[in-house]
Amino acid sequence: MFRQRKKATRIAVSVAALVLVGGAVAVRSIGPAAAAETTLRAAAAKAGLFFGVAASPNRLYSMVSQEFGQLTPENDMKPDRIATSSGGLQNTSGADQLVNFAQTNNMLVRGHTLVWHSQAGALQGASQSTLNTFIGNAINRWGSKIAYWDVVNEALEDNNTGRRRNQWPHTMNRDANGDGDYFDSGDTDVIRDSFIRAKQVVQAGGYNTKLCINDYDVEGLTVAGGTPNRKANALYDIVRNYRQYIDCVGFQSHFNDNPNSIISSDLQANIQRFADLGVEVHITELDIDDDLSNNDIGSGQAENYRKVVRACLNVAKCTGITVWGISDSESWRSSERGLLFTGSNGSYQKKAAYTAVLDELNKGRNVTTSSVPTSGPVTSRPVITSAPVTTSAPVTTSAPVTTSAPVTSAPVTSSNPTGGCSATVAVNAWTGGYVVSVRVTAGNATINGWNVRLTLPSGSTVTNTWSATASGTTGTVQFNNVSYNAQVNAGQTTEFGFQGTGTATGLNPVCTAS
Ligand code: G3I
Repeated sequence: MFRQRKKATRIAVSVAALVLVGGAVAVRSIGPAAAAETTLRAAAAKAGLFFGVAASPNRLYSMVSQEFGQLTPENDMKPDRIATSSGGLQNTSGADQLVNFAQTNNMLVRGHTLVWHSQAGALQGASQSTLNTFIGNAINRWGSKIAYWDVVNEALEDNNTGRRRNQWPHTMNRDANGDGDYFDSGDTDVIRDSFIRAKQVVQAGGYNTKLCINDYDVEGLTVAGGTPNRKANALYDIVRNYRQYIDCVGFQSHFNDNPNSIISSDLQANIQRFADLGVEVHITELDIDDDLSNNDIGSGQAENYRKVVRACLNVAKCTGITVWGISDSESWRSSERGLLFTGSNGSYQKKAAYTAVLDELNKGRNVTTSSVPTSGPVTSRPVITSAPVTTSAPVTTSAPVTTSAPVTSAPVTSSNPTGGCSATVAVNAWTGGYVVSVRVTAGNATINGWNVRLTLPSGSTVTNTWSATASGTTGTVQFNNVSYNAQVNAGQTTEFGFQGTGTATGLNPVCTAS
């Protein structure tokens, strides 16, 4: 009775409503209540995201394709399974089996993973050149059959230090000017160089594959006790600086009672801030500790699952959730009973957590479409304009060979008025498309808003913008600040970017401050 009244009210409220969020007007689109779906796959698809699972070839039961719309090989695409010491491929039969099952059942595949300090097998200690060879071979083997690849996995240190790991392959990193990061053009960065290589291979092959960075303990803006999540901030800096190569971010989401692994109340805000960079966000390896002896991470597993699913549903660019296994007893952390089913070997029983997830998915999205400011530091980093591309020729089997490297032009600077603002652009172009990174610099006074005007060449169209709002897509296009990057202190910078089709030559940005 109560449920029915609630449903009727929801329909009556209207499909869109204006609400005030943190001082900013936001449009919420509220989906009408509809007949509930009975599988996670169908409910998620209706809400506009995928719901997936990690599995091995011995777990490909029919329930997998009924309940899940996406598949991640839990172990079968890791370098220790498939890489040779020279970056070739071997033992791909398990991975092939998983990809074939997904194809047959119209499921997306997430490739996991190309560059990882762990489970490196024969690749352990390899040079960037050999890593690049492996990246080329692996991406080319499955091409567009893989919707998302985890290009770099777990690059950041434990214990909320906010630093890169200090073991291979990150030992190849060099901070040339000693400024504490690896983002400058003289630096060596295995993350950047691996993504550049992956992007080249995807572009040369004409694949639809999106390239992701994946990590754990990066889920909230804060960790236990309200301490800033420095690991999340470090990941954010990486994505922001290398946005032109990175399409998606994976929050692994192995939630447990480790102070850095809890479900914090700012999970949604953190998903939103990455989404505001223009990348897709995925919950990639979800499991939630239900060990009753130490369950201090919330009000019970089903409710905790609800919170995570809702946080994703409330951000339009959170486009997928994957649980890390089917059933508790077959999980890597079976004692914590973190998954949605009990049982084994294809005979599975749904838990309360399953019902909660299904119910939450069936409620659909409740999305704030305008960007709402989130907390968390946004440090200003230089945009790389010409990254070194160290590749050896790919040892491909049957797939296309890389042609040209991305063309990166030198930055173009607009006039630099005192008191106002100036803008520079850096263009990364390939045949038929480009990404432009724009840096806005305040003059000798703080500005509280900015507009950058650019005239695109004929035939050029903007298809995607991040960290700014674009008016128009062709000809002269205006880019205005969004709320969180409106204010730029004297002499400081902020950045935004856009992607387009066609060419991006001769850009002459004109910046106006307000
Ligand atoms: O298949 C062999 C078996 O033949 C052998 O007898 C047995 C002896 O130990 O090992 C079996 O392989 C194990 C494999 O899981 C399959 O069960 C490996 O030892 C074991 O190390 C491996 O653990 C995996 C772990 O990653 C390390 O790669 C887990 O299944 C897998 O769930 C876990 O997944 C990781 C993600 O890749 C990255 N994020 C964290 C996540 C959880 O740790």
